[in-house]
Formats: sequence, C-alpha cells, structure tokens
Amino acid sequence: MALTAPIPTSLNERVAAAVLQGLSARPRSLPPWLFYDVEGSHLFEQITQLPEYYLTRTERAILTAHAPAIVAQAAQGARLRIAELGAGSADKTRLLLAAASERQGTVVYEPVDVSASALALAARRIEQEMPAVAVAPRVMDYTHRLTLDPLLPGERWLVLYIGSSIGNFDPAEAAHLLARVRAALQPGDSLLLGVDRVKDTATLLAAYDDAAGVTAAFNRNLLVRLNRELAANFRPEAFAHRAIWNAAASRIEMHLESLARHTVRIGALDLTLEFAQGERIHTENSYKYHPGQAEALLTHAGFRPEGVWTDSSAWFSVLLARAV
Ligand code: AVJ
Repeated sequence: MALTAPIPTSLNERVAAAVLQGLSARPRSLPPWLFYDVEGSHLFEQITQLPEYYLTRTERAILTAHAPAIVAQAAQGARLRIAELGAGSADKTRLLLAAASERQGTVVYEPVDVSASALALAARRIEQEMPAVAVAPRVMDYTHRLTLDPLLPGERWLVLYIGSSIGNFDPAEAAHLLARVRAALQPGDSLLLGVDRVKDTATLLAAYDDAAGVTAAFNRNLLVRLNRELAANFRPEAFAHRAIWNAAASRIEMHLESLARHTVRIGALDLTLEFAQGERIHTENSYKYHPGQAEALLTHAGFRPEGVWTDSSAWFSVLLARAV
C-alpha cells in the first residue's frame, strides 16, 4: 500500500480507487485495510482468539507482565499522555492505561483511527471501564498524516503502535511510517512498537491458515465486501485461501487463488476481470522481524531503542524507543 497516495474524499471512492488499481495490475492485489468492514472486524476479533494465532495472546502476556515497567521507563518522572495508532487493541491497551493511571492518577488517551465508528466503540468501552482515563478520539489516517495535540508542561507522549500492525508494511513503508511518527513527537517522547518475530515455518503458517477456517473466511470476506460495495459478482467459494511463507522477504503472504478459469464483473467500476485457473489476488503481507531489525528501523527513523520485552519463546517483541 502506497503511503503517499492522495486521500480521496469518501471511503467509497477510496475503496473504488484501490480496487481498480489493485485488480487491474499483474499480479493482482488488494490492500489489507479493505479487510476491516463490520464483518471483517468481527472475523479478526475471532482470529485473535484462535489457538493457532499466537500473536495477540503472546503480546498480551508480555504487557501483562511488564506494563508497569514499560510505563515507568517511558515516563521517566513525567506525566504521560498516551496516543494509539489504530483503535483496535482493546484489552492490551487497557493494561498500559491501567499502569499509567496507577502512576499518575488520571491519563488522557488519544486513539487515532480512520474509522470514526471503531473509535467511538473503543472510546465508550474504555471510558465505561476506566474512570481515570479521559478518551479523546482522533479521526485521522495516520498512514498519510499524523499530528498530535500540544502537550502541557511536564507531559510526554507515549505513542502505542502494537499488535504487529506495522507488519502490513514493507521495510520502506515501515521506515516512512516511523519517520512520520517521529516527526509528530518531541525529543523525550516515546513509541511502543509491537513486532512479530521470525520463527519456525509451521507455527507461522498455522497462524494464517487455522483449522477452523476463520482466516480463510476473513480473506474471502474481501470479495463479499466488493460484491456489496462495488456491485461485483465474485463467488467467494471460487477462490481458495492461501497462506505462504516468503522467507526471502521475511513475510507471510495471503492470497486468494482462483480455482478455475472464470470471469468476474465489477459493476461500479465498469470492469470485467478474466481469472485464469490458479491466478492469485495478493491480499496481505505480514512481515516477521529478525533479531535487531526493528531496532535498526527505529534508529534510522530518529528513535533510540531503550527497552525490549519478549516472551520466553521469543515469538513476539515489544520495543520502547525514545525520540532523540
Ligand atoms: C492485524 C495486521 C497484525 O498480520 O497478523 C491476521 C492481520 N491477517 N490474520 C496480522 C491478520 C490474517 C494481522 N494484523
């Protein structure tokens, strides 16, 4: 996904432009942000509870064990204001907010997301359950632009970018995004980054091709969405879910593979697509980090990595990096 594309005026235009571009290209692709309509967000929530999808529970365990230490390291005696890129990580964010309010009494939390409805839901949940937290949601596409509110004297930002969300970006895009975050911060502010790590291939593949077929449904739901929003006539069952480990690029790839030669019509784009048997639509990259890679990326973007917390199998890492 290009980070520099202009921002079209409505979600529908953004969807139409991305689909036209991605499905006209060879190889064909669709951007992963398209996964998260209402049904897709629900399916992702289910994915996070699957036995094969170790990412969420591993990161949660790291934060459960270390949130107070992470928050203390970030604050260094200052009051923290906590921003989060994406509004989706719910119970993991709560661990950090609880640790911050434990330290400083009250905490202002500013989730940043393109989706106003996702933000409203997250805000309501947090405010109901955590009276010490004041939620100030910001509707913004942080992949294009990021500004944070001015701080009061004695405050510092802690920006959360957890959940392996950065995994959807290739190394150049990730570098660009971290530089954008750095530009929104002052020296002394910090960033908490959650990255998934390279591990044995079977574990990686199972996480993206679960036995219950939830990830397959999540992948095919893209086509259901295009049928509804762009008057397309995809038959989701005509595409197989494929998860591939690309070792050279250090990423899991998800594809939808056409099971037979067939034609699809996308009414709203006045587009007819011919799919060959075995032809794929590339729907997601999920980058996995080798030791030291995240640190290098952070350093390059103007941060100093100050702490890294990992589970006992080193499957997932949470890094605290200081803006320098
Ligand atoms: C939300 C991008 C972290 O890459 O693991 C889960 C999305 N895709 N199963 C990931 C996802 C398939 C997830 N991220």
